[in-house]
Amino acid sequence: MNYFITGGTTGIGLELVKLYLGQGHRVGICGRDLSKLPHGFYEQHKQSLWLYQLDVNQREELMKAVNDFAVKAEGFDVMIANAGRSVGSKSKIPDFKAANEILETNVFGVLYAFEAAMQHFVANKKGQLVAIASVAGFVGLPGAAAYSASKAAVVRLCEAWSIDLKGLNISVSCICPGFIDTPMTRQNTHPMPFLMSGEKGAHLIAKAIDARRALYLFPLRMKLLITFLSLLPRGLYRWMMGIQIFNYSKQSK
Ligand SMILES: NC(=O)c1ccc[n+]([C@@H]2O[C@H](COP(=O)([O-])OP(=O)(O)OC[C@H]3O[C@@H](n4cnc5c(N)ncnc54)[C@H](OP(=O)(O)O)[C@@H]3O)[C@@H](O)[C@H]2O)c1
Repeated sequence: MNYFITGGTTGIGLELVKLYLGQGHRVGICGRDLSKLPHGFYEQHKQSLWLYQLDVNQREELMKAVNDFAVKAEGFDVMIANAGRSVGSKSKIPDFKAANEILETNVFGVLYAFEAAMQHFVANKKGQLVAIASVAGFVGLPGAAAYSASKAAVVRLCEAWSIDLKGLNISVSCICPGFIDTPMTRQNTHPMPFLMSGEKGAHLIAKAIDARRALYLFPLRMKLLITFLSLLPRGLYRWMMGIQIFNYSKQSK
């Protein structure tokens, strides 16, 4: 199988790349800074790995890269829109510049990746679109408003597209992890319940992708917690988060 993974240079993306290469698949990845890849990684895998240095917000560049990958890898089966950003805030005043960047990368980055893949999937009459969203997409997390909003947008896009595309033999999978140990979460100062390793996270994600799960929230304890929080009357939710049940607002001075 041939996989294109946006944001494959570190974290979850890189763990997925390692897993798929280990299984003998062909993989294309993009990132803004390819030097983040482990030393010697490309040389070790150059028969089945294609690299593209670009920002997922550059729609045309991403499209060119995906087309190039499909030709060179002789096919294209799965697009994994994984590239994402989260910016921790120490202030109670929203950082609108950071919010803008987060929404651009996390929402438009997914749109552009899916658009690039769809050209091939429609022509081939098959394919799989995967987005790495987050459990944060189900509630408004204090200190992470733009991040929660961006992931909520991705959850809804995937939900609707999974219905729209069913007749075209193109499946849509929305993966919503809890906390996974990556460079992104290593910058967090708040508690991260049920944190799991990148390797384990990638293994569970790959299994859900293989099974073509439309929506996958994990780990189970985080799924239960988020489902509970999302079903609460919103006033009660705001009160609970306000009394720092997860210690979130304590960080913000
Ligand atoms: N870790 C978690 O606990 C967790 C939980 C839920 C969801 N997620 C989601 O999982 C995805 C991966 O996160 P991660 O934890 O693995 O973070 P990470 O280690 O920071 O990796 C992010 C990846 O995305 C790339 N990237 C970021 N902005 C980009 C852009 N504008 N254009 C191209 N590539 C870009 C980065 O490479 P460059 O910097 O080189 O561009 C990097 O390869 C994100 O969508 C994140 O929101 C993570």
